[in-house]
Amino acid sequence: MSLLITGGTGYIGSHTVVELQALADDQDIVIVDDLSNSSTKVLDRIKKITGKTVTFIKADICDYDAMNAVFEQHDIDAVIHFAGHKAVGESSEKPLSYYYNNVSGTVILLRVMAEHKVKNLVFSSSATVYGDNVSPLNEKMTTSATNPYGQTKLMIEHILFDLAKSDSDWSIACLRYFNPIGAHNSGLIGENPNGIPNNLLPYVAQVAVGRLAQLQVFGDDYDTVDGTGVRDYIHVVDLAQGHVKALQNLNKISGCKAINLGTGNGTSVLEIVNTFKEISGQDIPYKIVPRRAGDLAAVYANADLANELLGWQATRNLHTMISDTWRWQSENPQGF
Ligand code: NAD
Ligand code: UFG
Repeated sequence: MSLLITGGTGYIGSHTVVELQALADDQDIVIVDDLSNSSTKVLDRIKKITGKTVTFIKADICDYDAMNAVFEQHDIDAVIHFAGHKAVGESSEKPLSYYYNNVSGTVILLRVMAEHKVKNLVFSSSATVYGDNVSPLNEKMTTSATNPYGQTKLMIEHILFDLAKSDSDWSIACLRYFNPIGAHNSGLIGENPNGIPNNLLPYVAQVAVGRLAQLQVFGDDYDTVDGTGVRDYIHVVDLAQGHVKALQNLNKISGCKAINLGTGNGTSVLEIVNTFKEISGQDIPYKIVPRRAGDLAAVYANADLANELLGWQATRNLHTMISDTWRWQSENPQGF
């Protein structure tokens, strides 16, 4: 039996592959990725960490024939679906590209899965589907989205709920991630954004390593501990282990279940900057600028359901998250 990982050479996918390979059951892993936001160098790094190889297929999930061939050639029994575009700002500039890649690509994947009677799925959703609900965010809250990227996650969630309602053979875990940061503690894999990073941690890391001159802090007048935005940062290895737990507990899920993967704790931008400075020993110049459109003051999870249903909770603290980010960034200043 094989496990298909779409988007498996990406940031979260690669860390999840490493955790899956650490399992004793030694299930074969097939990665499908079109390399639109990742590199095959990741495959060598995964092998260095785990001593094991994966099957890699360069393909676009929107390509029905290519996806069908993957299922014809491999005895897939479950899928973890990471593939998708994820830049919020870019999604407003290129909405069609986001709806096509994320939504149409997922529909094509689901169609091929159904045709091959593969009905076990773990999907990468996002806390962005909570819209402007007040934190702590729990899975019973109403959902909404404020940008095309968020809409794609919400639309896919609706598709998954409808699909599971129509056919009770489906078991789907819709994992709503909070803010993944950090890297594998080997320093061999980590987040490698193209161009100027949109997210806080890769930006801070690139300032610390000298690739960028100064961080812009988007607002210091929020109603938070120090006025800067608060988020629920979660170590990417904890997140990866959440996927392993979801996969192992899919048989407990009949239908489609939304589950938060977060720590339940909030950290402000300045707390991140100061901790990064302390751990890296580098100066991190920053300037306070106006708020970024669409940002909320504080976003953090109620993470109880993941604990109850999957027996999972995050274990790595902020110090570990930032030490591991720094190790990855300082040992790979230009990424892969
Ligand atoms: P990433 O860009 O590093 O990984 C995504 C991978 O998917 C990349 O390797 C890319 O090449 C591949 N891909 C994109 N479109 C594809 C297609 N049509 N066919 C095949 N491969 C394709 O991103 P990530 O941070 O690892 O995120 C993984 C998933 O988690 C995404 O769906 C993202 O929306 C979701 N997510 C990420 C975050 C975050 O902050 N990183 C938060 C919430 C949800
Ligand atoms: N921030 C800055 N300067 C920067 C970048 C970010 O001050 O250069 C601040 C933001 O204003 C926010 C915090 O740092 O307060 C975190 O911002 P990120 O862009 O890193 O993360 P977001 O919470 O805005 O969004 C991320 C992903 C979304 C996902 C969401 C889930 O980018 O795709 O987490 O909660 F939907």
